[in-house]
Amino acid sequence: MERIDKILALHNFGSRKEVGALIRKGGVTVNGSPVKKGDEKIDPERDEIRVLGEPVLLRRHMVLMMNKPGGVLSASRDPKAETVVDLLPPELYRRGLFPAGRLDKDTEGLLILTDDGDLAHRMLAPKSHVYKLYQARLDKPATREDAALFAQGLRAGELECLPAELILGDDPCEVQVRVREGKFHQIKRMFHAVGKEVIYLKRLAIGNLKLDPALALGQTRLLTEEEITKIFE
Ligand code: URA
Repeated sequence: MERIDKILALHNFGSRKEVGALIRKGGVTVNGSPVKKGDEKIDPERDEIRVLGEPVLLRRHMVLMMNKPGGVLSASRDPKAETVVDLLPPELYRRGLFPAGRLDKDTEGLLILTDDGDLAHRMLAPKSHVYKLYQARLDKPATREDAALFAQGLRAGELECLPAELILGDDPCEVQVRVREGKFHQIKRMFHAVGKEVIYLKRLAIGNLKLDPALALGQTRLLTEEEITKIFE
């Protein structure tokens, strides 16, 4: 049994306070009867919830996007350092969410957190070839030759890279890179192999799922079913 206000807040109907106001206005029913207080407990497996008359489809799993800030670890818990799970709001903190994939401590941008092991596995399996788009600032200008080397499939020390797209813009030190693998320090190692160092890195997209520009650093929001499918496009 779970609190109705908590369930609705988790399903993007607003903060607990906003959901509380909705409940007091009679906007929420469970099995046809109006809910009176936010702390009423319901059975998410059996009860039918409606908000303003519309049935609410409850999800078994949570999938969130975070705009990861620099300085936090992509891990669930760490005895010494702050992790992305430590940044979650209290109602999400204890749900067993973990990051599906890693960004380096100093990397910012799109990170998926979920409690769905199958989804994480599908996202991370090398054979899935899920695309990731990064924005990188370099210490030296990137060149067309670098782009050609990236496109061929670069050798970065021990690392044999799959062909990747290096997108040059007006400022040759500000580039985008699209890769379809996610080895340890992949982007930094690729640039290092062509004599450049990455001084700032941000993930902009995974598959067709773009980082929501409305999310401030450290914020999360739930993904819709449609957005989840975009990861694999
Ligand atoms: N490549 C890197 O070098 N670092 C990241 O965090 C992600 C990709």
